[in-house]
Amino acid sequence: MVTYPGAQQYVPDTRDLAELAAASAGCRGCDLYREAERTVFGGGGHEARMMLVGEQPGNEEDLAGEPFVGPAGHLLDKALERADVDRGTVYVTNAVKHFRFDRSANGRRRIHKKPTGAQVSACRPWLEAELDAVRPEVVVCLGATAAQSLLGKDFKLTQHRGEVLRLPGELREGCDPAVVVTVHPSAVLRAKSQRDDMFRSFVQDLARAATL
Ligand code: URA
Ligand code: SF4
Repeated sequence: MVTYPGAQQYVPDTRDLAELAAASAGCRGCDLYREAERTVFGGGGHEARMMLVGEQPGNEEDLAGEPFVGPAGHLLDKALERADVDRGTVYVTNAVKHFRFDRSANGRRRIHKKPTGAQVSACRPWLEAELDAVRPEVVVCLGATAAQSLLGKDFKLTQHRGEVLRLPGELREGCDPAVVVTVHPSAVLRAKSQRDDMFRSFVQDLARAATL
């Protein structure tokens, strides 16, 4: 298995989100900084009480430098609105801060590729710093990658979806948010006949998380 130096040595000793974001631009904790355009750090309301964690930036996020601004982001916005969750109370980030992709055969398109477990682990120090800076009351993991980063690599989304969970002890320093795991908005986009049902249950999970 490939091991990486990891992000820890790049994470400054501050809980100021702007300083963390600026430092993350120079991270070389794993190989993903080489091909992607930029680090996409989290962002959102300073008084955020809910933290949403996705997988990694996609093509559009890599170009824009902001999380969840592409198709999955639009679906997420719609779901939050439906769930009556104000975007101003939400901090949005990803388990991995660089876009991992393959090139299409003609080289023109960049096609999303799931990050490896080693890349997820390498990037976790940034996520831990964000948790400690934002100190949310509730964390929503959007999909299995986020859940595995925060809850352990054997976490099974299908078994624990919707349950109210806690972070493992080593991540709980200074904050002990409720954690819920739901589907990734891209999974809703990919679903065909069940798309409406999946969207509805995604909205339900977000609305319930907002009550915690
Ligand atoms: N998918 C993610 O997991 N995160 C983003 O920021 C965009 C798409
Ligand atoms: Fe650093 Fe994370 Fe980017 Fe890897 S993916 S280089 S650990 S910010």
